[in-house]
Amino acid sequence: MERIKQALDKGKKPSTGSNGLSAQQHKYILSNFAHTENDTQHELENVSYTQTRIVKLQTEHLEKNRIVACNKNDVMSMNFDLLRTLVLQKMEEKNWRTLAITSPTAEAGKTVVAINLAMSIAQQSDRSAILVDFDLRRPKLGSYLGIPMEKSLNNLLDGTALLPDVLINPDIPRLVVLATKTPMKKSSETLSSRKISDLIKDLRERYKSRIVIIDLPPILVADDVIALLPHIDCVLLVVADGLSTKQEIEDSVRLIPAEQFMGTVLNKAEVEPMDYYY
Ligand SMILES: Nc1ncnc2c1ncn2[C@@H]1O[C@H](COP(=O)(O)OP(=O)(O)OP(=O)(O)O)[C@@H](O)[C@H]1O
Ligand SMILES: [Mg+2]
Repeated sequence: MERIKQALDKGKKPSTGSNGLSAQQHKYILSNFAHTENDTQHELENVSYTQTRIVKLQTEHLEKNRIVACNKNDVMSMNFDLLRTLVLQKMEEKNWRTLAITSPTAEAGKTVVAINLAMSIAQQSDRSAILVDFDLRRPKLGSYLGIPMEKSLNNLLDGTALLPDVLINPDIPRLVVLATKTPMKKSSETLSSRKISDLIKDLRERYKSRIVIIDLPPILVADDVIALLPHIDCVLLVVADGLSTKQEIEDSVRLIPAEQFMGTVLNKAEVEPMDYYY
């Protein structure tokens, strides 16, 4: 936590730091993690997209939104791979399959981390990932990825579409996205509903190889994260360098049950890109 402490000491000053997660930052990632069963090749081959709409992503649009995990030439993608490996080790150990991403307050980089982490997980040939936008207040997954959302979670929840109609494969093997197009009223009531718990169960159980990555609003702005906690395995807290106060981080950690706390990742830190890889 020392690095986070340093970051906190900078107060609320906006960060002008590096463009992502550095190697050093990962020292602070994660104190607890989780598990998945060993999935067979057969199952992974069956993660078929016969029904799922395939949408090709635009490299420029991704870069503009800091989505770098698919670009092995980008130094930041290595950092997301490191985060992925730490997260997956812990998830395997604890038999966790659903990971939600939050932060104390807004703009810490949750959505950017969620997308890059899911992409990095999908790059492992024995895993698959589904990225779900449960930030029903400020849904951004779809626009960051640049995917059209004729049918989205909004339609699934209001009964005007079925699950296969709203899933999108962004032309990346073993990755599926469930985006939300427009903000929803009564978001915390929705997240605590039976509909949502059944949906998570369905997404999680369909493939044993599958890791469910869930983008959420900040934990201190409303009760949405708390409402979802009973339906998920674990929570990763994204803290932006210089943005959150010590008190806000402590309050956030206190709200997450210890047995569901994956750990903390420091984002937007003012550090040099990692230099010990060669
Ligand atoms: N490591 C980083 N360095 C610099 N800017 C970043 C970094 N990560 C994210 N950003 C930028 O910060 C802004 C907020 O990122 P993002 O939308 O992912 O945050 P968020 O926590 O999901 O916000 P919200 O609370 O609104 O959902 C975006 O403009 C994003 O490009
Ligand atoms: Mg967000």
